[in-house]
Amino acid sequence: MSSISIIGLGNMASALADRALAGGNAVEIIGRDPAKAKELAAALGGATVGTAGAAPAGDIVILAVPYASAAAVVSEYGDDALQGKVIIDITNPVSPDFQGFVTPDGSSGAQEIAKAAPAGAHVVKAFNTLFSHVLAAGPAEGRLLDVFIAGDDAQAKTRVSAFIESLGLRPMDTGQLAMARSLENVALLQLGLVAHSVKHTNFFLGVSILS
Ligand SMILES: NC(=O)c1ccc[n+]([C@@H]2O[C@H](COP(=O)([O-])OP(=O)(O)OC[C@H]3O[C@@H](n4cnc5c(N)ncnc54)[C@H](OP(=O)(O)O)[C@@H]3O)[C@@H](O)[C@H]2O)c1
Repeated sequence: MSSISIIGLGNMASALADRALAGGNAVEIIGRDPAKAKELAAALGGATVGTAGAAPAGDIVILAVPYASAAAVVSEYGDDALQGKVIIDITNPVSPDFQGFVTPDGSSGAQEIAKAAPAGAHVVKAFNTLFSHVLAAGPAEGRLLDVFIAGDDAQAKTRVSAFIESLGLRPMDTGQLAMARSLENVALLQLGLVAHSVKHTNFFLGVSILS
């Protein structure tokens, strides 16, 4: 069992919180609007409500906010509140025309967020390649959904992998945090598929391991 704090109250926050509760994890919901946070926690059942800007209760903190707000949110909580936490970055820093990224060349959203995090926190990229409704629905047609992860700290990735398994999903480690760039490109690839071939968002990309 993991202890999770989710910052954000949107589609990804509710899908992650719902699966996390079903997986037996302790879940804290944190939003900038306390009334909305209480409403979501009540709808989920079993989640607690945290205070925006205060130290999150969870050992794992999921940033479920738009990329544009993510680094500012990390700075707002500050070094003391996030010291020692595993921070999961689920964002996709895609440009408004869906053709590229708003991050500096050679970097990624996760690496930019890591710059804002305290030295004693560990950023792990995860969940950015699963559409929220696909995540909410869970295993599809007998196949586990793959959650690609990337991060520099092996222990942090082990903890995130255990959390992912508790959601009934399959963690797939892709390497160091610099691989987040590739994972964010996978999200861009998915948007290209939506626009040009699949034409809807009810799909996921996963690994088929052949014997
Ligand atoms: N939707 C998907 O299928 C999907 C898939 C993979 C990854 N992602 C990524 O997941 C993240 C969340 O996406 P979403 O679809 O859940 O978005 P969403 O439904 O629009 O929810 C975003 C949430 O972020 C909160 N927020 C925004 N700025 C904030 C700030 N400065 N401080 C605190 N909270 C703030 C919003 O708060 P208010 O409610 O107060 O406005 C809202 O609750 C994004 O980075 C997105 O790229 C999304």
